[in-house]
Amino acid sequence: MGGTMRWRFGGVWVVALVLSGCASRVGALTAPAGALTTVAEGGSPTSLPATPTCDGTPTLPQTEGPYYKSGAPEASTLVDEATGGDRLMLTGQVLTTACVPLAGARLDVWQADAGGVYDNAGYRMRGRVTTDADGRYALETIVPGPYPGRTPHIHVKVFDPGGRELMTTQIYLIGVSDQIADSIFDPRLLARDLPADAEGRRVVAFDIIVQP
Ligand SMILES: [Fe+2]
Repeated sequence: MGGTMRWRFGGVWVVALVLSGCASRVGALTAPAGALTTVAEGGSPTSLPATPTCDGTPTLPQTEGPYYKSGAPEASTLVDEATGGDRLMLTGQVLTTACVPLAGARLDVWQADAGGVYDNAGYRMRGRVTTDADGRYALETIVPGPYPGRTPHIHVKVFDPGGRELMTTQIYLIGVSDQIADSIFDPRLLARDLPADAEGRRVVAFDIIVQP
């Protein structure tokens, strides 16, 4: 009853071995009991921790904070030639609590720049992405900087295809967000690292489980 699922992130294929009993969760990024293996093209597999991503539990919500602005432009990147900081590819999948991919979901993403500053006058470091037919999204951005009282984090607000707000939370980065004391930080919201892409960008995945 086992099977293999493959997804491509940049130049790297991600392969999840789907074990028996998980067939009803087709579309989940990793199977709860499955082994996750990466296979660089032309290279040999390397193992990553098998991180369960959908057991039906909604993603932990967190406050939107004081800096949300509606009306962010549709964007596949928040980066331009003037943007400092370390490049980051934020990817993931939006799933319902039945672990079914949610196509056409819209994500408003906003964050501080590398200096810990939000653009409250315009839409720098703010953008909107829409999930594809498999519920997947991808956005090029940077590792945000800390600002007083907060460890680096990325805000996200999810809307269903009809525009109804489903949830708001914050995304954290391993080795960055967990290095500065912050009472809001929660390790359950750490994105998981994937292999860097062909351009050397850090790639992370953060799946979002929503109550539709
Ligand atoms: Fe914030």
